[in-house]
Amino acid sequence: HDLTGANTLGLPCRAERCLAPATPAELSEALAMAREAGWPIQVLGGGSNLILPAELPGLVIRPVMNEWWLEEGAGDSVRVHAEAGVVWHELVMALAARGLWGLENLALIPGHCGAAPIQNIGAYGVELAAHLEAVHLVHLDDGRAAVLGPEDCAFGYRDSIFKHALAGRVVITRLVLRVSRRAAPRLAYGDLATRVGEAPSPLAVAEAVCAVRREKLPDPAVLGNAGSFFKNPVIPAAQAEALLREHPQMPHFPLADGRVKLAAGWLIDRCGLKGWRDGPFAVHDRQALVLVHHGGGSAQGLLEFAGRVANEVQGRFDITLEREPRLAG
Ligand code: EPU
Repeated sequence: HDLTGANTLGLPCRAERCLAPATPAELSEALAMAREAGWPIQVLGGGSNLILPAELPGLVIRPVMNEWWLEEGAGDSVRVHAEAGVVWHELVMALAARGLWGLENLALIPGHCGAAPIQNIGAYGVELAAHLEAVHLVHLDDGRAAVLGPEDCAFGYRDSIFKHALAGRVVITRLVLRVSRRAAPRLAYGDLATRVGEAPSPLAVAEAVCAVRREKLPDPAVLGNAGSFFKNPVIPAAQAEALLREHPQMPHFPLADGRVKLAAGWLIDRCGLKGWRDGPFAVHDRQALVLVHHGGGSAQGLLEFAGRVANEVQGRFDITLEREPRLAG
């Protein structure tokens, strides 16, 4: 199975086997088959935060379960049940269009609902974790189903238990999210407030977020990319103070624990790397945190290219950048 079109970086990848279960029953069948045969399993959603190797042995599972529905909650709150295969952005826009608040700042994030908790997707001051009530999943080793609450998920900045203790061990089948009828616009990030004006609807906020993203982030349908390639680094206060003396204009966000989060895009930009291209790969020319693939490259080539970017930042600022997308296989 050719998965080249199934990852937004557009890296060439062939999977030995691929199944697209459309129901929980089909999923259990696929898992049982893989257990019996001893095939390693790779779960693939929208492929927007994954670096695929040239060859994937075993079985690739692409859940296509794609129903979502609402359930009335207490007061103004509404529960959203969204199966793993639902396209995240389509869900966000459908909820915003119904006047439901909560996920509008997360518009236009690529990928499927099943992948959203893995990196705890976040943008414009909102993280998924704040709106998640439950994650339904199935364990790969014995097929048993389980439900995790947010407190079980060890959510952090672009981080969760699904990148650690449960990495490669479960398939997420459904999310339960919380949204609200009560207006709660969050417009503090960047120029969102000036873009939407007074008393905006959730749809107006979602559309403003889409506009901001379209200005800076490359459309994976046009140019291969996996969004931010690095996490924003968190450094000790003393190191941040020293850097700020040299670069008073450096974007920085003090954290509750006293450390300071910096903008990796700014650091890469400062190294003069914005727009830098070497063969198939480049640093995006409008947002240096995004690496783009012009075609003809491989996972290995991308990792080498990213390593050179990280080395530049390390050399210049003594800051280690951590990769954000996961490596498959
Ligand atoms: N900046 C530069 N040069 C650049 C890029 C950024 O100077 O080339 C500066 C900007 O001017 C700004 C600061 O760095 O002052 C932050 O930039 P931006 O607002 O674009 O956000 P970011 O920190 O680079 C993060 C997320 C994005 C998310 C945006 C908005 C991470 C790793 N990335 O980027 O998430 O959309 O904030 O909330 O946290 C993703 O995870 O794939 C992603 C796109």
